[in-house]
Amino acid sequence: MLYDDLFIRLERARWQLSEDIPFDDIDPALVSEQWRHDLRHICLTELSALYATEMFIRDFYADIDFCSFISIWFYEEMKHHLVLRKYLERLGETFEESELPALRLTFAPGPAIETLTMHFCGEQRLAHWYTAFSEQGPEPVMRLIFKTLAADELRHAACYAKYLRKAVINKPDVLPNILRMALWMLRSTNDAPKHPTTVTEPSVVAQLEEPEYITRMLNWYLPGRDHEKPVQRRVLALMGELSGTQMLSMRDLLTTIRTVESNAPQAA
Ligand SMILES: [Fe+2]
Ligand SMILES: [Fe+2]
Repeated sequence: MLYDDLFIRLERARWQLSEDIPFDDIDPALVSEQWRHDLRHICLTELSALYATEMFIRDFYADIDFCSFISIWFYEEMKHHLVLRKYLERLGETFEESELPALRLTFAPGPAIETLTMHFCGEQRLAHWYTAFSEQGPEPVMRLIFKTLAADELRHAACYAKYLRKAVINKPDVLPNILRMALWMLRSTNDAPKHPTTVTEPSVVAQLEEPEYITRMLNWYLPGRDHEKPVQRRVLALMGELSGTQMLSMRDLLTTIRTVESNAPQAA
């Protein structure tokens, strides 16, 4: 089980909420109304790990290894929600607990391998966004929090990558589905950013006060058309590894999908 090794690795890498984030050093004067609004939205978006966990444990019913790992992922994502909520509380911003159940969603059942691929890509993308916020946030403790969360999201992506490798070794037929989902996820823009919290119907962010907040933040903090290059590079590296070819561009990914599909017409 990958879980045994991941448990130790993630335990070693883990940061402490009460020791590693200097809440006493927060300077509320540096945090604008707009940033408070945006942090509230990000904090509530992280809460969606709860609904995603429910989905994982349902859709990966027979995969005891992956469900075991999800216990760690759930804990760490809820910690992301908590650290942002604690930060906001230091600014005098609070959430009404009784209003949170209204945000709750139940995701429709989906093919496990596509869900896994979507989350691998989503963690890469979120790490990229959080890194930008860690560089451009107005307040030092906020910047540290986003840097810390970005590192967690990248580690999560590495864990999902391990489960994708395992899936392909156990059942090579799943490769075309992984590649197609990766291509779909890579076709993302600031106006229609793809992440597990934006792509379902209804989506997690659609439940929030300002559903377009991600688009707006991306246009402010990652305005360039090519800013996704690091995300593409990391996703293509894994897709190349899984399919045994070098992939440097989305075109290479598309070519490989066509080759793999023509070799395995029954998978179409
Ligand atoms: Fe997170
Ligand atoms: Fe994550």
